[in-house]
Amino acid sequence: MRVLVTGGAGYIGSHTVLQLLEAGHQVSVVDNFINSSPESLRRVVSIASKKVATFRVDLLDRKALAEAITSIQPDAVIHFAGLKAVGESVAQPLRYYKNNVTGTINLLEAMDEAGCRTIVFSSSATVYGESVDLPLRETTPRSATNPYGRTKLHIEEMLEELAASDSRWRIANLRYFNPVGAHESGLIGEDPQGIPNNLMPFVAQVAVGKRDAVQVFGNDYPTADGTGVRDYIHVLDLAAGHLAALDYLASSGGLHVWNLGTGSGSSVLDVIEAFQRISARLVPYDIVARRPGDVAESYAHAEKARLDLGWKAERGLEQMVEDMWRWQFKNPDGFPKVGHEEMNSLELRDFVLGEVASNK
Ligand code: NAD
Ligand code: UFG
Repeated sequence: MRVLVTGGAGYIGSHTVLQLLEAGHQVSVVDNFINSSPESLRRVVSIASKKVATFRVDLLDRKALAEAITSIQPDAVIHFAGLKAVGESVAQPLRYYKNNVTGTINLLEAMDEAGCRTIVFSSSATVYGESVDLPLRETTPRSATNPYGRTKLHIEEMLEELAASDSRWRIANLRYFNPVGAHESGLIGEDPQGIPNNLMPFVAQVAVGKRDAVQVFGNDYPTADGTGVRDYIHVLDLAAGHLAALDYLASSGGLHVWNLGTGSGSSVLDVIEAFQRISARLVPYDIVARRPGDVAESYAHAEKARLDLGWKAERGLEQMVEDMWRWQFKNPDGFPKVGHEEMNSLELRDFVLGEVASNK
């Protein structure tokens, strides 16, 4: 199948591109590299020994996007491209609505024009808002507590209306829980810019000595050890969920929603303890006040994906931490930074990373 992956250079996108290549799909990527580096795709290409046609295009550039899609002629799109930092979305709400919602509208219009109406969308457990009705089911009422979450909610609703308006669309809304871990090669992984917002990359940076101590946001929650509990899911399991959703859409029309989680949670202290053990490094931590907006506990009801897609998460916390640590240890500063000049020389449309990599 010809698959277009938007945001394919990013954390979840790069792992998914790799699995698509390994499964024999022909993969193209559209990314503006606002939160990623082309280096992730170079490494994907070197692991898979297959090419990825890469288009440096912003989804907000309607014309360039349409040109890319016309030349790719995809059978299906996996849509990761978006901004994802909750705090930043509170400070810059319009930027988030424009990038995520308008970007998705541009994509859907360009797909429609090109006759491609199959899309797998990166939604999030954030659409369950502050629900305390656990485990979180696909039918749990949705709400949003910040602009980022509201962009996901708006896009889900937009996709529902689109599917209702035209039965040719085939749509999967995948609600991710907390993606962590990295490819077992240690060559690709999450490369947060600046201070990580999320627990696992922060703990990894403390273990490797880049930061002094983890701040544990509250130990007075009604959980076993008082710290927040989340459903961490290995990024490779998550990527596999996208391939399963694509397979499903190949034979079923309409719109479908699946939670992608493990179905069980780990606490902040569980994560710190696992990191200390596996890295054999000390991970100092301080208990500080709760972070506003955090819920005590969040984990998925993961049965629907198992029944419909035959997919379930295979990897546990140990594996997540082991792979995350390997990536962090081998790449303490993330991917090498690409300079302005090199970035500007990536004049896209015909930029095939596979060829660049094999010329080296
Ligand atoms: P990421 O930032 O690593 O990847 C997103 C990619 O999209 C980046 O490569 C970025 O450069 C690109 N991008 C952003 N705006 C773009 C635009 N206008 N045009 C073209 N490219 C653009 O993030 P990720 O962690 O891989 O997340 C992927 C998707 O999954 C996002 O939509 C995110 O909201 C969603 N999600 C992530 C998490 C998580 O915790 N990582 C949880 C739930 C949902
Ligand atoms: N935490 C700390 N210290 C930190 C960071 C986090 O104690 O430095 C705690 C949080 O309070 C929470 C847990 O670690 O209990 C996990 O926090 P994350 O920030 O890693 O993840 P969240 O569940 O808060 O949110 C993430 C994404 C959201 C997304 C949600 C569900 O940031 O965008 O997962 O997918 F909506």
